Amino acid sequence: MLAIIGGQGLTELANLEITHRQVMRTPYGEPSGAFLFGTLNQNEVIFLARHGYGHIIPPHLVNYRANLWALREQGVKKVVSIATVGGIRADLTPGAIVVPDQIIDYTHGRDATFYDTRDAIYTNTDFTLPFCPKLRERILRSANIARQPCVDGGVYAATQGPRLDSIAEINRYERDGAGMVGMTGMPETALAMELGLNYAIIAVVVNHAAGRGDNKRGINMEQVNAIAGAAMERVRSILECVVGCDGG
Ligand code: HPA
Repeated sequence: MLAIIGGQGLTELANLEITHRQVMRTPYGEPSGAFLFGTLNQNEVIFLARHGYGHIIPPHLVNYRANLWALREQGVKKVVSIATVGGIRADLTPGAIVVPDQIIDYTHGRDATFYDTRDAIYTNTDFTLPFCPKLRERILRSANIARQPCVDGGVYAATQGPRLDSIAEINRYERDGAGMVGMTGMPETALAMELGLNYAIIAVVVNHAAGRGDNKRGINMEQVNAIAGAAMERVRSILECVVGCDGG
């Protein structure tokens, strides 16, 4: 079973035929909202809005552990995460859709592991390739079929939020090799890996990062929301192909 975690601008999937909703509980508390079970293009899928259904949970307060734990409890093996980002790399301009292949964690104070007690039998999770290569391929192939341009690869800088970044911070992330910046990629990516889930992100560039493009003096949130809304239509058409695609 495949699950989709929707981010800003994607708190619902208009083309999802909902069969039922279920409130989930986990040893880590409650997920962001009820799981929506349904079919997309006749393929079974579970949908969860990461920030809750009224977009009320800020990135640093999302219960990432509960979200992923509950998805796994439902038999989910693959998770496609939708996340908005600011573009740092010159080619990642507003409206671009990108499937990152690496991630750097700048977050702090979040519950970032399931191995959180002294008696836990832990392993050092291999994080060499943070995103599932097969699922990334499947997304890129789907974008191709849906005729939606999609950038293959890039480094996602995961920041704490909820504030946006200073120009100096963006310069630092760029020096570190990051091409985009967002607030939800971690610990979600690492937790998915701990649970053995195949996980990949579809990142939607909704603004130039601070100091890039025309954002020398600030970021216009109205523009950000308009770009997110329009781009999510394109993401939906990619998702329809992803759920229908064999393999991966
Ligand atoms: N910075 C951090 N997170 C973001 C941004 C940004 O510019 N845009 C969307 N999420």
